[in-house]
Amino acid sequence: MNDKIQNVAVIGAQWGDEGKGKIVDLLCEEFDVVARYQGGHNAGHTVKFADKHFALRLIPSGIIHPDKICLLGNGMVIDPDALLEEMTNLRAHGIAIDDHNLLVSDAAHVILPYHRALDLAREEAAGTGKIGTTGRGIGPAYETKVGRYGIRIADLLDPDVLKQKIEFTCAEKNLVLSEIYKKDTFDPAKLFDDYLEYGRKLTPRITNGTVWINEQIRAGKRVMFEGAQGMMLDIDHGTYPFVTSSSTIVGGVCTGLGVAPKHIHKVIGVAKAYTTRVGGGAFPTELDDAHGEHLRKRGNEFGTVTGRPRRTGWLDLPVLRTATILNGIDELAITKLDVLDEFEEIRVCTAYNVRGKSWSTFPAFAVAHHDYQPEYRTFKGWKTSTVGITTFEDLPQAAKDYISFIVDETEARASIVSTGPRREETILR
Ligand code: GDP
Ligand code: IMO
Ligand code: MG
Repeated sequence: MNDKIQNVAVIGAQWGDEGKGKIVDLLCEEFDVVARYQGGHNAGHTVKFADKHFALRLIPSGIIHPDKICLLGNGMVIDPDALLEEMTNLRAHGIAIDDHNLLVSDAAHVILPYHRALDLAREEAAGTGKIGTTGRGIGPAYETKVGRYGIRIADLLDPDVLKQKIEFTCAEKNLVLSEIYKKDTFDPAKLFDDYLEYGRKLTPRITNGTVWINEQIRAGKRVMFEGAQGMMLDIDHGTYPFVTSSSTIVGGVCTGLGVAPKHIHKVIGVAKAYTTRVGGGAFPTELDDAHGEHLRKRGNEFGTVTGRPRRTGWLDLPVLRTATILNGIDELAITKLDVLDEFEEIRVCTAYNVRGKSWSTFPAFAVAHHDYQPEYRTFKGWKTSTVGITTFEDLPQAAKDYISFIVDETEARASIVSTGPRREETILR
């Protein structure tokens, strides 16, 4: 690797589940630290190699590698119960987690049960207008953070502060739950006991994440920033309000870890060779037909976290171009090429027609009114297996043409093409 490229961000370039877990795992051999900067256990990142299969939610995919240090950054919202459960599960699968290889920023925010209850209650009340959240309390936890009455990891270590904060917040949340949503309330004394205990269990790994990661960078250690969700789910730049509640784009690395922009040396955008999305909201290239069903079955498009069937559709270049701009994507990792193997014809959305004008980036303003017409280019399918192919030259010509077209249209080099879920099933260029 180029010496000047010390730290790399791996970002989802669509609506999530692009295969970030696979790509982080694949590349992390060359890195010392893998850090998450946003989101929580709404994420589900899959890592597969040989006969091994791991599903990561809060913990960076680097944990699979024994010599990497993983950090949960200040920009995350952490459910301590989910974190401890994930650690137990990973250990049961032979992954070593000690006090040194998994650190938690003391400034990360904590998800409490009332966040989860509010998430579920609000979704239920919204009926058909619901966002389709993962129901993990992510949005309500970020709300209390921005409302400046959130509980941070550091607070778990200070009984007086924790008690006062839980009592204050619970008084409000309980009222909302009981009066507005007619739901059960929470006993602040019980929450205090539980969360004090979580603090005790997590104590050895709680650290000032910002100081720590900057010390690592200064010492020349290589850091990989692992994105969760995808660019189109970004709170500012995504298909609002059908988004998650954090900054999923590369800018989130700076705020969510306290790392200056000059320390992000390369951005890899991960994109499927087609498109999927879970939950509600605009999806212009969605297929509600047999082709969509084929993508779902062949691509095993069911949520890692919730098991929900993912919505499926053709590749959307305006989405990828938008991702390239917002994240300064240097290289693309194009995943799940093999899922397109059986198609006679493959379509790609090249632009949107909005009231007679052509848009080559995502026309966010038109989305609320479904006031857009995707324009497609049709490619001949290759109708032969690409599963497990590891060199670009071995791909069928039609698949090469397809990749080349994406590269030309996004102006980002396709440095990785993925031809199967396993680490081994990858073309590195
Ligand atoms: P993430 O959230 O971005 O890490 O992605 P997920 O792990 O939620 O979803 C990606 C899914 O696609 C997982 O089941 C992966 O094992 C699988 N996958 C990743 N790359 C490929 C690929 O190239 N081909 C196939 N068939 N599956 C892949
Ligand atoms: P990874 O990291 C795909 C979606 C939810 C919902 C919206 C808001 O595996 O790519 P939230 O629970 O965050 O408030 O839900 O965001 N969503 C994801 N979709 N992959 C994810 O993570 C997602 N995390 C959240 O389906 O539409
Ligand atoms: Mg996922």
